[in-house]
Amino acid sequence: MDFSLDYFKKQVERLEDNFLGKFHKRIEPIQKFMSYYKCALMEIETKFKVLDEEFSFLHERNPIDNIKTRIKDFESIRKKLRRKKISPSINSIEQNIHDIAGIRIICPFIDDIYMLADCLAAQDDIKVLERKDYIANPKENGYRSLHLIVEIPIFLHNEKRLVKVEVQLRTIAMEFWANLEHRLHYKKEMDEKISKELSVELTDCAEVIANLDIKMKNIHDRIENKSTQNVQMKKN
Ligand code: GTP
Ligand code: MG
Repeated sequence: MDFSLDYFKKQVERLEDNFLGKFHKRIEPIQKFMSYYKCALMEIETKFKVLDEEFSFLHERNPIDNIKTRIKDFESIRKKLRRKKISPSINSIEQNIHDIAGIRIICPFIDDIYMLADCLAAQDDIKVLERKDYIANPKENGYRSLHLIVEIPIFLHNEKRLVKVEVQLRTIAMEFWANLEHRLHYKKEMDEKISKELSVELTDCAEVIANLDIKMKNIHDRIENKSTQNVQMKKN
């Protein structure tokens, strides 16, 4: 029997190779599945960038201030599967979890949100599966945004796949609010009384922010009208 160090090293290497081989076989389909969502995000981000480009050319301002994309991480997918009692297979994840790919469109004004959502929905390769208008119907805590679940095709070398993407559209002010509220939500170690007080304050802030969005839009419209009048006056 060979009990030399070399012998043991070789045995360990074989075990490692074996483990890595099995790990790779299991992880590869998951990586492939996740890459579909990455592709769908690229497609949809481009669609919004095209709309922004065209609008800025036509109207000399951008309806999109910022775009953020994210792929849901494995830990969040796992938690959601448990919470919704969904079996952890690729098929059921594909069917039941609609926000693996997420894109957030941040706009200066509320009108931009509806304009962009309508333009996207009108595109013939996009199917809107769900629409939740938390601007017209804010959540009890004051949360406002327009949410869409859409299906978008991605074209691979030998197939076309329909992939679901969650689209959130909100104003800069709504984003400011939602980010702070999100932080409070995840501060688990906070005293319950303080947390409740802050929740109430945040709900008040949501109202202030909603009014601010309306006021800013009114000012914007008046500036635009004024400049149109100026143009007309200059023409006369
Ligand atoms: P999920 O299964 O959790 O996706 O439930 P749902 O489909 O009912 O969710 P919904 O469409 O209402 O919201 C989805 C996403 O919107 C969340 O993952 C958050 O990013 C955002 N969101 C919804 N409600 C709130 C809120 O009250 N505060 C903040 N900060 N974000 C929210
Ligand atoms: Mg959702």
